[in-house]
Amino acid sequence: MSKIKVIVAGALGRMGSEAVKTFIEHKDEFELIGAAVRDLKNVSDENLEFHKRNNINLTDDLNALIESGEADVLVELTTPDSVYENSLFALKNGVRPVIGATGLTVDDIKELSKQAQKSQMGAILAPNFALGAVLMMRYAFEISKYYDKAEIIELHHDKKVDMPSGTAIKTGDLMEHSLGNKVPIHSVRLPGLVAKQQVIFGSQGETLTLEHNSIDRTCFMPGIRLSCKKVMELKQLIYGLENIL
Ligand SMILES: NC(=O)c1ccc[n+]([C@@H]2O[C@H](COP(=O)([O-])OP(=O)(O)OC[C@H]3O[C@@H](n4cnc5c(N)ncnc54)[C@H](OP(=O)(O)O)[C@@H]3O)[C@@H](O)[C@H]2O)c1
Repeated sequence: MSKIKVIVAGALGRMGSEAVKTFIEHKDEFELIGAAVRDLKNVSDENLEFHKRNNINLTDDLNALIESGEADVLVELTTPDSVYENSLFALKNGVRPVIGATGLTVDDIKELSKQAQKSQMGAILAPNFALGAVLMMRYAFEISKYYDKAEIIELHHDKKVDMPSGTAIKTGDLMEHSLGNKVPIHSVRLPGLVAKQQVIFGSQGETLTLEHNSIDRTCFMPGIRLSCKKVMELKQLIYGLENIL
């Protein structure tokens, strides 16, 4: 099978740099054709040297990289202010977005979905690439059939820009169907945390808690690699890793 050619956008961020490492480690399946940063002028010599040593085209012109026609997949790990434009541009130019960055609105998702249909291209949007978090969402949905009340607490590092997290919003949306009411979400932002979520169900004389902990960002990498493979087979946008497992 030929290698899947990927671009990582947000390549020097916490998630992006981990994704770059994982594609280097999985050279047998993937070819990392480019890594996009916001501004090359701000890149340290150490980072420039790392990308040069690994033969990765480090650029601040993501659009040119997409338009070059070399890539199959864009792994989108930037920030809420650029994820929509980058993903749309990719879809319009023959590159399938695998979107990890959060911050897309319901309308953004609808537009991306329309563009995927129009281009007959795959796209995957996953608020959480960690297997345990996806299982937590699935079981939260199941358990909510048996309870009337639940709340979510999501705890993340203090540099996370969006609040509540995409995972908490998605979990709450899933549960709402069974509970019949909106699930309150409480957000905590503190240094020292990576990502953690609790779903607490309460009923007469008892509580039931589901908890997922991301101890470090390597937990997201198997989900990113799987999404890059699956997106090649799709002709529409899929929302949620649980729908491709
Ligand atoms: N789906 C999941 O499983 C999952 C897990 C964890 C995090 N996330 C999400 O993934 C995203 C990244 O998280 P993070 O912790 O890695 O954040 P981060 O460390 O802030 O990284 C984001 C990176 O994107 C860069 N960037 C911003 N706009 C760009 C553009 N137009 N072109 C190229 N690069 C651009 C930023 O550069 P500057 O610093 O110069 O702005 C920064 O290096 C966030 O939205 C986060 O919520 C998703």
